[in-house]
Amino acid sequence: MDYDATDRFSEAEEAEIQRIVAADATGDERAIEAALRPKSLDEVIGQQRVREQLGLVLEAARARGRAPDHVLLSGPPGLGKTTLAMIIAAEMGSPLRLTSGPAITHAGDLAAIISGLNEGDVLFVDEIHRMSRAAEEMLYMAMEDFRVDVIIGKGPGATAIPLEIPPFTLVGATTRAGLLPGPLRDRFGFTAHLEFYEPEDLDQIVHRSAGLLDVHLTAEGSAEIAGRSRGTPRIANRLLRRVRDYAQVRADGTVTRDVAMSALELYEVDTLGLDRLDRGVIDVLCRRFGGGPVGLSTLAVAVGEERETVEEVAEPFLVRNGFLARTPRGRIATPAAWAHLGLVPPAPGVTDATLFED
Ligand SMILES: Nc1ncnc2c1ncn2[C@@H]1O[C@H](COP(=O)(O)OP(=O)(O)OP(=O)(O)O)[C@@H](O)[C@H]1O
Ligand SMILES: [Mg+2]
Repeated sequence: MDYDATDRFSEAEEAEIQRIVAADATGDERAIEAALRPKSLDEVIGQQRVREQLGLVLEAARARGRAPDHVLLSGPPGLGKTTLAMIIAAEMGSPLRLTSGPAITHAGDLAAIISGLNEGDVLFVDEIHRMSRAAEEMLYMAMEDFRVDVIIGKGPGATAIPLEIPPFTLVGATTRAGLLPGPLRDRFGFTAHLEFYEPEDLDQIVHRSAGLLDVHLTAEGSAEIAGRSRGTPRIANRLLRRVRDYAQVRADGTVTRDVAMSALELYEVDTLGLDRLDRGVIDVLCRRFGGGPVGLSTLAVAVGEERETVEEVAEPFLVRNGFLARTPRGRIATPAAWAHLGLVPPAPGVTDATLFED
């Protein structure tokens, strides 16, 4: 055998853990995504307001012949933060330097990057909320005064040598804007909040990606995928790839409505984008606990999952889409959850207690 059996196992395991409706990207996926990224602001679909605001910032900077203000891109995974960072550099005709919060553990890591910047460079710091405190402080100074203190030596003999840096543009991306310290947030001249996409936008994105991937698809086929993509372009693109496989193997290669529906049924992604785990949670909540309230631990045991999985993987989407509510007394299913499962909620006021009253 010329492969490592343990490697094989962990890959398979990884594939199983990665949900088809996960908003995060796997390593392999990032390479595929690069091919689907819009390259200019004009190519970006949806996010009307952000596009217009950012367009203005960039156009004004170009007219002044200066580096644009620092930009913070915030929003959930898979909505286009990295894409926009690359577009900012492209629109300015500037090189993009790329790093990420977790890669910057010491202030020195950041000093090395910043001191190598040229005028007008765009420095993209992904997951900027995960940068170390010491690096953050150095970044404030670099953003505001275009200066860093490079520390030479160690201990009491160490000296700080101030180093001027040419004007550059910092583009930070974060899925957790709330975790950014105020002073850092305040130093961005412009913050773009990315919102989940409307089905019409996702429909256009699916059409565009299908064109780039050379997939034949009908309008109904595209709409079917868009409607199940949870407002997220990354998920839309992923579902498109799975539906394409199905169309090739089980049909004549064209993604029609029927093909998309059969493929997504096979992958257990329902009409509103809920997968098996999501459905399991609301199903147990409605059928077994009469809609709740029920504590998270009890709910998790009933679904056969870890507490964290239910709380962090399933609930955010269910809460955002109004299927589940978190109350001080526990989780409850909303009328939308009952309706989605094709069930009728118990009449209000008819609880176990009232049923058994004499
Ligand atoms: N507005 C858009 N139009 C077309 N495609 C888009 C758009 N936004 C995102 N995409 C596509 O979705 C995929 C994910 O986008 P991107 O990597 O920019 O997300 P992200 O916000 O950086 O995610 P993460 O938080 O995981 O880093 C990319 O392949 C990109 O092509
Ligand atoms: Mg990204």
